[in-house]
Amino acid sequence: MIQLHDRAFIPFITAGEIEFAIKQMAKQIEADFGHEIPLFIGVLNGAFMFLSDFLKHYKKPCEVSFVKLASYKGMTSSQKVEHLIGIKEDLSGRSVVVFEDIIDTGNTIESLQVLLKQESVKTCKLATLFFKPDAFQKQIKIDYIGMHIPNNFIVGYGLDYNGLGRNIPEVYQLKN
Ligand code: IMP
Ligand code: MG
Repeated sequence: MIQLHDRAFIPFITAGEIEFAIKQMAKQIEADFGHEIPLFIGVLNGAFMFLSDFLKHYKKPCEVSFVKLASYKGMTSSQKVEHLIGIKEDLSGRSVVVFEDIIDTGNTIESLQVLLKQESVKTCKLATLFFKPDAFQKQIKIDYIGMHIPNNFIVGYGLDYNGLGRNIPEVYQLKN
């Protein structure tokens, strides 16, 4: 058990399980892009660890960039999504894959998809390491999902609770 701020968290997903899911995603995305060179866009802060480990398993040519958005304060999704840091690359005609650490309500990924479509990308696919189907409120298609998880608050592997926990190599869930 670990303590972050005022809350206790218990072990939930091992580093090995995460690595397995990421390897599967890398294989699938390699196969889907053929000879095209995709641009992978990680959503900061949470997706830094996921995209970094994913790239070590992705064996074909690719480009990488990051955007920063925020929709979370504490433990509830605030509905409000802010666009904090824009993308400098020319995205027109590019095949883009957006990498999220976790998709919860879907607010963040939906606004990012809207922003990317305005940049006249060729295709925009969505990848997330963790997906909470019971919290998801959108009609958009998530192309690549590492793991489906219950609607519990998790930390570790890039995910935080008010700033803490991102450096934990495994995933912990909130102890009720
Ligand atoms: P959404 O906009 O509701 O889909 O939330 C997406 C963002 O909220 C993610 O990129 C995370 O930063 C954050 N988030 C959602 N669920 C969790 C969680 O269980 N733990 C930590 N952060 C979360
Ligand atoms: Mg995030």
